[in-house]
Amino acid sequence: MTTAVYPGSFDPVTNGHLDVISRGAELFDKVIVGVLHNSTKSPLFSVEERVKILKQATKNLPNVEIRSFSGLSVEFARQCDAKVIIRGLRAITDFEYELQMAQTNRVLAPDIDTMFLTTSLEYAYLSSTTVKEVAAFGGDITKFVPEFVVDEVHRKFC
Ligand code: PNS
Repeated sequence: MTTAVYPGSFDPVTNGHLDVISRGAELFDKVIVGVLHNSTKSPLFSVEERVKILKQATKNLPNVEIRSFSGLSVEFARQCDAKVIIRGLRAITDFEYELQMAQTNRVLAPDIDTMFLTTSLEYAYLSSTTVKEVAAFGGDITKFVPEFVVDEVHRKFC
């Protein structure tokens, strides 16, 4: 069985993330989405909330599991018995950071590879940061996140 992990902040999950998750789920027997619990950041959603939202958003994908993790992504991959880390690549601006991260991970864990999925064109501009910024100013985020996430985000800014 081939298992891949998809680590990230997912604060909140966007349609771009979901595109990567569903495409990963076609390629691997199992995809475990790892929601980073990072105590140095102050996310809009708690890790428990992000896990709950992701579970709801991926409930139609039987081979996708959602877990939280803290520490290194490669350690999370090892715990999940995964040999592949999936990351989405939107544009050239992502590349430098993603390459650095993939190469660091490769030095830390030569037995684990990073696989990049280029984001579908319709989501190439999209990020969780953009979603939060638009929502903070009362803008329409219905094209960026699933419908139920729109309500969750707006509740945070109310
Ligand atoms: O969704 P994000 O914020 O772009 O995800 C970044 C993430 C969680 C993949 C990255 O910050 C990460 O892997 N953090 C865990 C710590 C780690 O493994 N660092 C080493 C790679 S530089």
